[in-house]
Amino acid sequence: MRICVASDHAGFTLKNELVEDLRAAGHDVTDLGAHSAQSVDYPDFGRDVARSVAASGGLGVLVCGTGIGMSMAANKVKGVRAALCTSEFEARMARSHNDANVLCLGQRVVGPGMARAIVEAFLATPFEGGRHAQRVEKLNALDGER
Ligand code: RB5
Repeated sequence: MRICVASDHAGFTLKNELVEDLRAAGHDVTDLGAHSAQSVDYPDFGRDVARSVAASGGLGVLVCGTGIGMSMAANKVKGVRAALCTSEFEARMARSHNDANVLCLGQRVVGPGMARAIVEAFLATPFEGGRHAQRVEKLNALDGER
């Protein structure tokens, strides 16, 4: 699977661990930074992953301290449905009901083991379609509100 990943400084350690895991699992991973633990602004990185997913498809993973700022940034980009998840259940629901295409995580919120489990659940779960499809269409239509 093609997966675009980024973090700010507060998500740097977890992001690097996830990149390593995802590559080891055979995924086609693009790491858009940050490339050091130096302080940076999360909207820059959320924007880059969101634009990549909107333009090229695949899925995105964003990590900051809480995941909140990254989810706000990514959801500003047309075509992106970013979900902040703290559990495997939320990750499965985000994919199966909301067709989320970007997963946001907080390094200061979830430990590395839970983060890995959340990412695996997110990647393994397909969109259910059916009654959820018209709801996602309505979500997408809100892109025009901006
Ligand atoms: C950085 O200190 C922190 O504000 C950022 O990583 C994130 O948690 C914002 O939502």
